[in-house]
Amino acid sequence: MGSLADIPRIPDVGLLGSFGLTTADRLQLQRDLAKQDAPIVRGRILHMPVYFPCSPEAAHDVLVTKAKSFEKSPGVRVLLHNLAGQGLFTSEGTIWKNQRKLMSPLFQPAPIHKYAETMRLVTDRAAAGMHDGKRIDLARETTRIAMSIVGKALFDVDTFDEADALGQALTTALHWVNDNLASPSLVAHVMMLDATETIAAKTRGRVKALFESVHDRVAAPFLLPGVRDPKLLAAVKILDERIQGMIDERRRQGLTRDDLLTRLLTARDPDGVAAHMSDRQVRDEAVTIFVAGHETTATALAWSFYLLARNPEALERARAEADAFGDEPITKWQPERLAYATRVFREAMRLYAPIMMMPRRTLEEVEIAGVVFPAKSIMMVSSYAQHYRAESYPDPERFDPDRWLPQREAERHRASYLPFSAGPRFCIGIHFAMMEGPIVLARLLRQWSFEIDPERVIEEDDFATVRPRGGVPAIVRRRPDV
Ligand code: HEM
Repeated sequence: MGSLADIPRIPDVGLLGSFGLTTADRLQLQRDLAKQDAPIVRGRILHMPVYFPCSPEAAHDVLVTKAKSFEKSPGVRVLLHNLAGQGLFTSEGTIWKNQRKLMSPLFQPAPIHKYAETMRLVTDRAAAGMHDGKRIDLARETTRIAMSIVGKALFDVDTFDEADALGQALTTALHWVNDNLASPSLVAHVMMLDATETIAAKTRGRVKALFESVHDRVAAPFLLPGVRDPKLLAAVKILDERIQGMIDERRRQGLTRDDLLTRLLTARDPDGVAAHMSDRQVRDEAVTIFVAGHETTATALAWSFYLLARNPEALERARAEADAFGDEPITKWQPERLAYATRVFREAMRLYAPIMMMPRRTLEEVEIAGVVFPAKSIMMVSSYAQHYRAESYPDPERFDPDRWLPQREAERHRASYLPFSAGPRFCIGIHFAMMEGPIVLARLLRQWSFEIDPERVIEEDDFATVRPRGGVPAIVRRRPDV
């Protein structure tokens, strides 16, 4: 058994430690992690050690095999407190377990497949708004489409027009999250949370109660810059009011609407163990799904278009498939009909994983890669580090959708592909995303050609997700053959 001291250290990139201050620093860290031979390496944030599992086996242990010994790192909860509250992405323990059980049936392939036609219709509406010669930013366009799809599926509302208050409020809140992602104030806040938790655990009686209540209060990110900004407060208020309004409306109508919000309101645990959700819980879940359900997919789609523009042969294959898919309504979802678009979308998420890191903290002593880690150790599983490992993906920088042919995929370790994470906290929206990506790609490719400068190298920007910096500028062209 090795010891903590034996774990190789990676060099700092700045005063703060492993993450540095800029996007370039953080991306460099990911690329460096992909090249490590050791199963796990050590970095730091300020004085705090951070461990990065680099081998697929170690990543799999953290996320899957030994998931019970981990929780999400508290930083995620602090950052998303005002936006997603105790929603599925941020909650832990019993709340998370009950909610996951209640919501899982809603996200199984059969109920999700019902949204295929909504996805086609929303995309066709976006395509209808284009004309030959129009200059667009494909990242903006895919965000509008993905937000509309999730808005329609979840709330049965129209967010297509970006003036919609809900969409704008979410964007404002996401900008704030992004501004604070790597802020020293967040680290300080997490340290304070930690200290109150430790004192509460070590004391009894009134002192314990006092520190427990302080701990609950510091769950809100009051230390972070801009948290009292009237624009952010107004955005959260709009979200609260609009969603409560929709809940009330559905109740008045007798919970008969065919949308996910109604299904959240009527969800019941088949075993009767978990009660149904309170309005507050439904609000938190609704915002969580709205945010998690569009930002990621939109980003992956924008990168897909960029990669296709740089790979004309792949573009031709995707177009031919889109043409064969045809224009008729999707009455039954048949993924094999968009098999190539699916491979393109998967490969885009390998090269540009929308969520680059899954931060975790140990709840107890746990052994990973032959080393015992004490409770409260921070581990960051990087999807980038897995996706750029030459051992799993020869010539890892190359865009090659055929890496996702079933026989080639079967040769790789399961944890070498982590865009949706893995284990109990894996993405609940995976079926939604894996249907939406190919449908949007195919429908847009079928109707228009997008002229993107093939020489232009677009870099990553780590917003809430890994977005293309400066967007994906394109000129819309009518396809001569359609
Ligand atoms: C390409 C699209 C998507 C990507 C890359 C993605 C990625 C992820 C990842 C990496 C996680 C886990 C984070 C962690 O383990 O720390 C996650 C969780 C989650 N995702 Fe997605 N996601 C996508 C689409 C969606 C969609 C469409 C929805 C909903 C409609 C959704 C809802 C959620 C929720 C609710 C969770 C929290 C699950 C839990 O902790 O139990 N995601 N997603």
